[in-house]
Amino acid sequence: MINERGLLGVKGLGEIRITGGRPLKGTISIQGSKNAALPMMAAALLHKGVSVLRGCPCIADVFCMEEILRSLGAVTWWEGDNLYLDCSYADGTVISEENTGKMRSSMILLGVLLARNGKGTVGYPGGCVIGKRPVDQHLHVLKGLGSYIIKEEGFLEASCIGLKGSRICFEKRSVGATEQGILAAVTAEGKTTLLNCAREPEIVWLCRYLRRMGAEIKGEGKSCIEINGVKKLKAGDMKVPPDRIVAGTYICAAAATRGSIIIENPPEGELDAFLKVYRKMGGQYIRKSGKLIADGRGTAYPVPYLETEVYPGFPTDLQSPLMAVLTTVSGVSCIQETIFEDRFRAAEELKRMGARITVSGRQARIAGGFPLHGCRVAAGELRGGAALIIAALAAQGESIVEGSTFICRGYQNICEDLAALGGQIKKDTGTAFYENIEIQKKIKHYRQT
Ligand code: UD1
Repeated sequence: MINERGLLGVKGLGEIRITGGRPLKGTISIQGSKNAALPMMAAALLHKGVSVLRGCPCIADVFCMEEILRSLGAVTWWEGDNLYLDCSYADGTVISEENTGKMRSSMILLGVLLARNGKGTVGYPGGCVIGKRPVDQHLHVLKGLGSYIIKEEGFLEASCIGLKGSRICFEKRSVGATEQGILAAVTAEGKTTLLNCAREPEIVWLCRYLRRMGAEIKGEGKSCIEINGVKKLKAGDMKVPPDRIVAGTYICAAAATRGSIIIENPPEGELDAFLKVYRKMGGQYIRKSGKLIADGRGTAYPVPYLETEVYPGFPTDLQSPLMAVLTTVSGVSCIQETIFEDRFRAAEELKRMGARITVSGRQARIAGGFPLHGCRVAAGELRGGAALIIAALAAQGESIVEGSTFICRGYQNICEDLAALGGQIKKDTGTAFYENIEIQKKIKHYRQT
């Protein structure tokens, strides 16, 4: 779904220059969560007034969602890292194919459009680089709430005469479809029971935000969520929680370089499955005064078998960063990717750095411990790109990671953060790194308007 023009439509791939071999060390604070912020932004559209997301991450996906909300008539602006969304007159009902193509999660706006306007049209989100990513469960829940959906050439057109509460069972656990159902049901008439829901923490955060807006929800974080529809929601105002995937990525970077880091604001209890694996690899961690100290100096053991799973299992989003760490420890590790069918793309690039990885369908076998050497590699997607940065920090010599456009979709300051921990990493200002200039311009523009 994301083409090589990048999210902001700027031509050229940014480059990151990394010289590996230095253990990371120091204290770091984690940005707001991308996957929590995006549905909260969608929720803001359910209130005809100004909602706020405090500590919102300044990342391309957030800017993209902002652009989409603006295209619907919202007025948005930033004050520091607080994002204000005035949806008083955001009565547009069409999200173009171009926009759903840029960011697949804009699909969750369909239920919000239905709730707000009784109709909505979104460009059909195609497959993407990590797999097919169908939307059948999104449509299933919206139909269950009383909407009609027609698939037109390139579009999904939905309409309803008021959404009506219902009992709906997802055939498959999906984060996005669960969020879709919740967003559509909070102002539907009557009671909704959603069964076989995804339990990811971002769903819990969305429900907390919606409750602040006046929604009546019970059971988030469990597989059965009950919602009593309310007539109207008020303004949302909440701090975006720290990003568990970014925290995990930085712990992986420290482990790959045999370093030790302190996370000032670790996500509470959201990283348990990851930390269990980290400990098996020889990483140590303790929580102290609200901080997480992750000491990766003892990282030495392979992971004989690991499956990615829905929460509370090991997150698919940390599969590639973990793979980068596993290339640095002697012995054979095996990862089974159960969520997305094509999420081992980073493996080919890691192999160019000297890693020995065999991918067969949804399984990757990593024969670790062979020295990594710096070279030019290309990120093809967000988390795979982060994995390349991790491997480059552990490798001997210089690497150039192309395609930072993908990485900036989810990481606000990955270069600055890792450099502050002692990594030799910098943005190549000679190229359109991160399309950073464009992003900075955007921030300025939003702050002025
Ligand atoms: C979200 C996260 C993403 C994470 C993923 C899995 C956001 C913005 N993105 O994506 O970072 O990797 O959860 O934890 O929060 N599926 C269907 N039918 C559907 C919907 C999904 O078959 O209607 C399948 C998908 O193809 C996939 C699996 O269900 O195989 C899980 O997808 P889902 O949980 O929906 O992921 P997203 O919400 O897209």
